[in-house]
Amino acid sequence: MGEEKQKTIVNSWNEWDPLKHIIVGKADNCMIPPLEPAVDAKVPLDSEMRRLAGTRRSQESVDRANTQLDNFCDTLRKRGIRVDRPAPLDFSQPVQTPDWKVECMFTCMPPRDILLTVGNEILEATMSYRCRWFDYLCYRDLLNKYFEEDPNMKWEAAPKPRLTDATYKPGYKERSRTEEDKLRLVAAKDFITTEVEPLFDAAEVMRCGKDLFVQHGMTANLKGIEWIRRHFPNHRVHAVNFPGDPYPIHIDATLVPLRPGLAMNNPYRALPEEQRQIFYKNDWEIVDAAKPAHDEPPPLCYSSVWLSMNVLIIDPRTVCVEASEVYQQEQLDKLGFEVIPVPFRDAYPFGGGLHCATADVYREGKCEDYFPKQIEGF
Ligand code: ALA
Repeated sequence: MGEEKQKTIVNSWNEWDPLKHIIVGKADNCMIPPLEPAVDAKVPLDSEMRRLAGTRRSQESVDRANTQLDNFCDTLRKRGIRVDRPAPLDFSQPVQTPDWKVECMFTCMPPRDILLTVGNEILEATMSYRCRWFDYLCYRDLLNKYFEEDPNMKWEAAPKPRLTDATYKPGYKERSRTEEDKLRLVAAKDFITTEVEPLFDAAEVMRCGKDLFVQHGMTANLKGIEWIRRHFPNHRVHAVNFPGDPYPIHIDATLVPLRPGLAMNNPYRALPEEQRQIFYKNDWEIVDAAKPAHDEPPPLCYSSVWLSMNVLIIDPRTVCVEASEVYQQEQLDKLGFEVIPVPFRDAYPFGGGLHCATADVYREGKCEDYFPKQIEGF
């Protein structure tokens, strides 16, 4: 069947079922984000991005990133996976709401950050950065099309947050001047955002069928996690946190399920013992992810070297891993996967790795219960 004739189906319950249709981001017009409160808490303290905040990335770096993104799309298409792309905006425009104004927007390279697919629903997350408030516009044509083509698709948007100064803790910057400060604050679950309104990025959610694990960190507050819980009443929503991560944002370089019964965890961001129990009780194994092949992320990258474990699973036996991440490839090979190496380091600075750069539309499979034995109060 030709791609044009293929019927659109929105359906994806987890991170590993056979992938049929996906959105892959674009690097066009990507900006270095302005240092508004939530961005400030995430950009590494010694990063050159601080000096260049609010400026354009070089066209040469954009082109290199797009070459790798396009190549990734070809790799997926060759495997029979349908690939769609977002519509980039001119992100250099200043934007405002009645409450605030920022000098520019950001990017549409990582669709995973905003689009959460749970079953036949695609949910636009609230986001927590002002510069990402309008991210959803880049995906509206696609979502509208899926809505027209799949009569069962549910299109939802979480309440847009106001993101006034009351959303961010005053004095947080002063309290987090060093990496040690940051680790102490994170261990105390003291993050940049307050609890005045629900906030979450979609990339904080790890989907395992009936169970959704959501990182409580810099972009998802407890009210956001509660909102997700009430929004998906047939799911069990678990708040998790990772005390070893000085910049806890997005779960997919921290805790990554690989197939039923197997997950990998960043050894520097260990899932606390009490939160592991649900995995052990249900006979899941949690392995430490292999060490990254690089000591440093590429220049002007806002993520860490742990994008090594930000893999895209094609089906329970096949996984895309960044081409230079030889240790991660070796580990997954030993765990029984066919590994597809995908060059992607030039795309990292634009918003992350292979999982960040994608959002599921359709994976085969149903909602299964992988954690029938629950832990009281978790
Ligand atoms: N925030 C995640 C990391 O940089 C993606 O490790």
